[in-house]
Amino acid sequence: MTRSFVATSAIALLTLSTVLPAAVGTAETCAASMDRPSIVVVGSLNVDIIVASRPPELHETVVAVEPRARFAMGGKGANQAVAAARLVAGARPVKFVGVFGNDAHAVELEAELRANGVDISMSERAHDLPSGQGFVMLSPDGAASSVVIPGANSRWPTDEAELARRMEAATRGAAVVMLQREIPDRVTLAAARAARERGALVLLDAGGVDDPIPPELLSAVDYVMPNETELERQTNASADTDDLAYAAAEALIKKAGARRERPRVLATLGARGALLVSEEKDGGFSRARFPAAEVPGGKVVDATAAGDAFRAAVAAFLAEDRDAATKKTRAETAGGALVSPRVARAAAAAGALAASRVGAAPSLPSRAAVV
Ligand code: RIB
Repeated sequence: MTRSFVATSAIALLTLSTVLPAAVGTAETCAASMDRPSIVVVGSLNVDIIVASRPPELHETVVAVEPRARFAMGGKGANQAVAAARLVAGARPVKFVGVFGNDAHAVELEAELRANGVDISMSERAHDLPSGQGFVMLSPDGAASSVVIPGANSRWPTDEAELARRMEAATRGAAVVMLQREIPDRVTLAAARAARERGALVLLDAGGVDDPIPPELLSAVDYVMPNETELERQTNASADTDDLAYAAAEALIKKAGARRERPRVLATLGARGALLVSEEKDGGFSRARFPAAEVPGGKVVDATAAGDAFRAAVAAFLAEDRDAATKKTRAETAGGALVSPRVARAAAAAGALAASRVGAAPSLPSRAAVV
């Protein structure tokens, strides 16, 4: 497959109907913050085709409620990069490492990432596949079900040494690296390993393919962040009550293998808020519980990307904690990467705001709206 680095595009093809929010900063305007440790997102980007309809049952045809579909930028990786950029508000670089397709959508996706101040210089373009697509069925109660067509998200270097070199370059200078499961796990694993070697904090969103997370990937990250469904699928256990959810989180941690390499689990449970489970040195588990934020307007309009907003806020605010931690002694920073109530509050607010608006990228909140 032939690839080339994505170049700035002067052409704007009006294939998408997203309304671009005000840019939060560009590589040029944020020059002063460029030497701050960055947030790097390695993952997917999609054009989302949003259909106002409940998902069909097997063998059923349903007619959408609205006469036309809406289009917006999506993909868990791109959503998280845009959300992080809006939340850091130019205070540090945010990089997106992904693969654009060979279609007109790629031009719009690229433009939207740039307009949000996201550095895409480490991304590539696949010449033989279109950009990823997300078919999002938006139910009247705001619940979203999606089918993702991977497209260019599946095109990464097949040579492992080349992949490792790319990930080393991409994660250099990162405070936090965000990963998901909408690109091949081997790429995500290479990114996690490269990031860890460089001292970055590694966050894995469990969303994407729903097959078991490989133990070597679990043990290469600091946080695994599933939603309730993902937590249940990964552990074959119910997370219906808090006690069950805590037990499932502990089971997920243990799947990583050797104790010293196990991650923390930060699970989102929708209106029930979030919980954090960490393994202690003595083999016991500590638990923390964080409340959900109220959805503005009191109604979920579109849950798409609420999880992306939540996780990007965790990355953005943990990166700040890490900046502060570098000024402290080693003893003071033990557990410095722990999600605090402040981080959890900002993340819950970001998720709730995203759920109050239609679309993935268009719904992602600014820093001012969250703090
Ligand atoms: O997390 C939301 C995203 O999941 C959507 O934007 C869709 O593209 C799927 O990737």
